[in-house]
Amino acid sequence: MLNWDDPLSPKINTPTPAPAAVEPDNNTATSAEDAAAAASMKPVNPDDKRVINGMTDINQLAPFKYPWAWDYFLNANKNHWTPLDINMTQDLHDYQHKLTLEEKHLYENVLSYLTTSDILAMRNIGLAVMEKMSAPELQIYQARQVYEEALHTWTYQHCIETIGLAQGEIYNRYRVVPQINAKIQIANRRLSSVLRPDIDLHDRDELENFVMAYIFFAGIFEGCWFYNGFSPIFALQRRGLMKGTAEQFQYIMRDEVMHASFGIRVAKTIIREENVKLDPKAISEMWQEADAAEAGYANYLLKDPILGYSAEDHIGQFRFIANRRARSLNLEEPFPGAEATLTWLDEQANLRKEKNFFETRVTEYQTGGALNWD
Ligand SMILES: [Fe+2]
Ligand SMILES: [Fe+2]
Repeated sequence: MLNWDDPLSPKINTPTPAPAAVEPDNNTATSAEDAAAAASMKPVNPDDKRVINGMTDINQLAPFKYPWAWDYFLNANKNHWTPLDINMTQDLHDYQHKLTLEEKHLYENVLSYLTTSDILAMRNIGLAVMEKMSAPELQIYQARQVYEEALHTWTYQHCIETIGLAQGEIYNRYRVVPQINAKIQIANRRLSSVLRPDIDLHDRDELENFVMAYIFFAGIFEGCWFYNGFSPIFALQRRGLMKGTAEQFQYIMRDEVMHASFGIRVAKTIIREENVKLDPKAISEMWQEADAAEAGYANYLLKDPILGYSAEDHIGQFRFIANRRARSLNLEEPFPGAEATLTWLDEQANLRKEKNFFETRVTEYQTGGALNWD
């Protein structure tokens, strides 16, 4: 038996006598309370579970209604690493001696955008989304996602510290560079609209707004902006530069692919269960706003050219990926005819071991198999 005052102590406690049974006071219990107590003891029927607005016991994990959510959780645990596992020594040398001024500008601003974004992603899923879920198997994966977003923030901080960048400047850059600020403000606006204690998702307007915010975060913020957001660093990696940072980003990207895919599936399930009708004009405006912000950001990052990567490449790839996310959401393609401009991106992002991507890895962990990028 554990000693609850000192769990590591080998001392065995003497059991305390059980308190005497207390007779129920029938005069104080109302029939409504009795009925509620009886209902709360009924077994959970998984068919009654709902993604939101459900009435089943949130504290009972199984039987599952959404077994795929549990699979996401199990899969997420196969991609386990910390930023300390990856050797960054060569990155410091590359930054100090090999990167051009234009490449340093690119590297620093990518980190600056990503680090602010990942805190937003953590707050969205942990504070605005999780509390609205009414099936525990969804919350379990989202709890892992919250941890992963924190891990990503640690990773950027580790890169910033290792390279010796000025933290006060890097972390404030989103506040003073309009092209970074524009993307953050769009996300902040969506988050603020669902981060209120008085939201009633039985209200159709609130429900539609919540689904739009969910689609934005899963389909655009994580599915496009993050997915494509690592590409400039992968372009350096392909030239043998900043390979430690790029490997860190490959691990993050793998998480983000899972986050986007899970979020899209949750959003589609809500739409089906709650019979949500989204406004095509609002959807179209969301894509166009995201595209304009991404174009401004890319043109700022790459205002001066670097070898092997351009703003046009970045914007073109955003549109190509946006179409992919729209298709998986059963939405119209926002950018018909957009073609992949970074044909190496999916493969670059894939961490399959046989492709020898573990060049700088210090420690080996198990990782999952190849992902289906659609
Ligand atoms: Fe993240
Ligand atoms: Fe994420």
